[in-house]
Amino acid sequence: MTNRTISIPTAAPVSSFRCIACGVIRDNVSHDFRCTDCGDLLEIFYPAWHSEQMATNAPGFKALWQQRKTSRRAIDESGVWRFRELLPALRDWDQAVTLREGNTPLYNLPACARIAGVKQLYAKHQGMNPTGSFKDTGMTVAASFALQEGFRWVACASTGNTSASMAAYAARSAMRSLVVIPEGKVSWAKLSQALDYGALTCELRTDFDGCMRVLNEVVKQWPVCLLNSVNPYRIEGQKTGAIELLEQFDGQVPDHIIVPGGNLGNCSALGKALLELLDLGLITRTPKVSVIQAEGANTLLRSVREHGGKKLIPMQAQTAATAIRIGSPASWKKAVRVLQATGGTVEQASEIEIAQSKAEIGADGIGCEPASAVTLAGLKKLVKQEFVKQDDIVVLILTGHLLKDPEFTLKFHRGDLFKGTEYEQQAAALRLHQRARVTLEPTADAVVKALEQAEKSTPPN
Ligand code: F0G
Repeated sequence: MTNRTISIPTAAPVSSFRCIACGVIRDNVSHDFRCTDCGDLLEIFYPAWHSEQMATNAPGFKALWQQRKTSRRAIDESGVWRFRELLPALRDWDQAVTLREGNTPLYNLPACARIAGVKQLYAKHQGMNPTGSFKDTGMTVAASFALQEGFRWVACASTGNTSASMAAYAARSAMRSLVVIPEGKVSWAKLSQALDYGALTCELRTDFDGCMRVLNEVVKQWPVCLLNSVNPYRIEGQKTGAIELLEQFDGQVPDHIIVPGGNLGNCSALGKALLELLDLGLITRTPKVSVIQAEGANTLLRSVREHGGKKLIPMQAQTAATAIRIGSPASWKKAVRVLQATGGTVEQASEIEIAQSKAEIGADGIGCEPASAVTLAGLKKLVKQEFVKQDDIVVLILTGHLLKDPEFTLKFHRGDLFKGTEYEQQAAALRLHQRARVTLEPTADAVVKALEQAEKSTPPN
């Protein structure tokens, strides 16, 4: 089974695999989803989209997608499969493995807007997906194709969210799942999800990049479908976040979409969607897609600034935003292409900036996990640089739910997130954002006193 291939479905819309580097087109792929000629990543493309039939049909898509919102069919209730005209076709749509993913809210962030210095700031909260992260939007598609191709096992290396998502979708479709994670570097909330959904969970004494290397060997020896974002079906599903976002803006196109960068699959997916919508004439311009990385895991930033986006030098990644603690991002070439095609940029956020921005998003009543908060931290810099203008409409993609990493949040508010680290002194500036718990005698008087004290203090925003 070492050279297991996945054949493409024959039903319309016809899709194929294309290498992002050498451009070779294939109808099937090997176990590692890489080009057998040059080893680079593959993407799914749709040759029929330039046909006359597509030109006739495309203008009707928006109404069709709206109409499906009232349907009780599982694939119409899914905020991913609702947009299936822009996805690869399953042999039987009703066999899609779905948890009714997508359908995530768009919130305004008034306090964060004031802090960042823009008039209109929104959060597309992908953490409101069934397992609490944007991964579900890609996983429903990749898991459905794995099932269609008869795989019994699916697998991923992960910083936590991919594994939680994959384990859930595998459990829903009676496939078994193998999770390979870096020991001690995955939040226990994410780890607990993988266990509850029944994954074979292997913690390795290495980082995410090491886990990925090991898994790439495993897929050569065991018939397992790789569900990391090198799997191009993942990218297709994650595209729908952008399609849904534009729908929520009623056809208006925001000026900027700001997304956290880890393995760089998500920015690639959102950018692909926007460029495809443009190609199909469903929008007339795209927002600028910008990527924000943690300073300690800033390979894309360094690639763009030091090598013009032509070369990426892997690094030993280090950040408390463990979801994006990745030193050798697989989809960096796809990400560079998206930055260039949409006119976006790349920035970085320090550990302190991430922690502060996370508290600010929390104080707006929204909340997110640390990796998502890099978006606000990055936006502040992009406004200062005047890359983002005061009147621009800006959307932050919040990728994970606040409850994904409670330990980070509790440590932050206790004031010991940076204890014993090189950031300890700088962290004093975060005190304004910290909310101490108070332990009281069990009397109404004591609680009323606490209320009186709270009245006297001013909230940070
Ligand atoms: N935000 C969160 C919450 C994530 O979990 C991830 C990636 C990212 C941002 C970065 O997205 O990799 O597409 O650039 N998490 C992966 C995982 C790597 O294994 O859960 P990306």
